Amino acid sequence: MSAYVIVGMQWGDEGKGKVVDYLTGGADLVVRHQGGNNAGHTVVVKGRQTILHLIPSGILHADKQCVIGNGTVLDPAVLLEELDSLREAGYSVEGRLFISDNAHLIMPYHKILDKAQERFRGKDRIGTTGRGIGPAYADKADRFGIRLADVMDAVLFRGKLESVLAYKNALLREIFDEEPLAFDDIYETYLGYADRLRSFVADAAKIVHEALAADKQVVFEGAQGSMLDLDHGTYPYVTSSITLAGGACSGAGVGPRDLDGVIGIVKAYTTRVGEGPFPTELLDETGERLRKNGAEFGATTGRPRRCGWLDCVLLKRSVMINGATGIVLTKPDVLTGFDTIRICTAYEIDGVKTEDFPTQVTALAKVTPVYEDLAGWSEDITSCTTWDELPENAQRYFERIEELLNVPIALISVGPGRAQTIDCANPLS
Ligand code: GDP
Ligand code: IMO
Ligand code: MG
Repeated sequence: MSAYVIVGMQWGDEGKGKVVDYLTGGADLVVRHQGGNNAGHTVVVKGRQTILHLIPSGILHADKQCVIGNGTVLDPAVLLEELDSLREAGYSVEGRLFISDNAHLIMPYHKILDKAQERFRGKDRIGTTGRGIGPAYADKADRFGIRLADVMDAVLFRGKLESVLAYKNALLREIFDEEPLAFDDIYETYLGYADRLRSFVADAAKIVHEALAADKQVVFEGAQGSMLDLDHGTYPYVTSSITLAGGACSGAGVGPRDLDGVIGIVKAYTTRVGEGPFPTELLDETGERLRKNGAEFGATTGRPRRCGWLDCVLLKRSVMINGATGIVLTKPDVLTGFDTIRICTAYEIDGVKTEDFPTQVTALAKVTPVYEDLAGWSEDITSCTTWDELPENAQRYFERIEELLNVPIALISVGPGRAQTIDCANPLS
């Protein structure tokens, strides 16, 4: 058996969907264990693009099984829409998608509260996706959550919703000056969702363990990125789940000893959506060029992504807190044509140089990046399939990243398509 966690090493959108789809070729089961439809994972198969928000990217391989774990938060309407569009596109979902009965549901008040809280934060807003993710996880921690199993039982659901909605409506009315929500609308709508989702509900942890026991290969598909982790990210400019590799354990019900490795997905430059400090951000033409070349617009909200050079101070921190055993470099093709490519190797904070990533965003906001310049390449690399075909300067760039992070490169992605992948040391092949 083998089990690998795929984790974003920056602020999300590193190309996890593309990489998970590729790795699924050598896997049997793909598990989403945290986050919700704040994620947008893009997969391109035979020129056709699919953006997945909740369902594991492995679903595009007809013979593979997929699990949505207890650590996720589910908006049933989005999930059902995603299921329908997969069916319409000719992908089967029945019998090979299993959803944990303990996954928490995103309720209508979560979406309203997400937006209302952002309004209250004013200039300190986080720039959330507005999908209700934070309020849903908050309710989970606060023991006000409604789980998938709850809506499967109409009587149980009625009782829970009555008490939670009384509290939420008071909040909406008294604190946020919003209209209260009608019980019957939510109750009936969610019972309808429950009927349509019933056949997918399962003891997800047991399914994962049965796969491991049967010597199957399991891939855990992380969402978001390490710097958006609730504990170790750039708090408060983070999401509300455990995005680090360790989140796969609690979010799917496996122990650390069940995992064989952690593969960190590293975009060859850096992007961020939403607010919060970003030391290597480029607010000039170079940043614009990265955004344009890399089509850096959100797969979920369509917002333009902030762009900047690769930050190895940040990445070293991500390697450490994830225990990364390998990395995958994505989107280096976007750098083709740049005369010089910069890597941030140290920070200067208040005139003091450091290679340590600060633990506080207040310090991160003061960083002046220290760069190392490497020569770029002009050759098109999007059809390279082996290391040897890569231009020498591209090889140098990749080797330097490997050296700085001290983690071997497993794969290099040179384009969005499944075939546009260079296999260096794929543990699942
Ligand atoms: P995720 O959230 O980590 O799955 O990443 P997104 O799907 O949000 O964003 C990555 C974008 O880059 C998507 O549009 C992918 O199709 C695309 N992509 C992935 N890998 C590559 C690559 O190697 N080169 C290029 N040019 N695009 C890529
Ligand atoms: P994938 O899986 C990039 C960001 C939002 C915001 C912050 C909090 O596609 O990489 P939330 O709605 O989660 O409360 O927003 O987190 N964010 C992401 N940024 N990629 C994602 O997912 C993200 N999911 C959330 O932009 O800054
Ligand atoms: Mg994304």
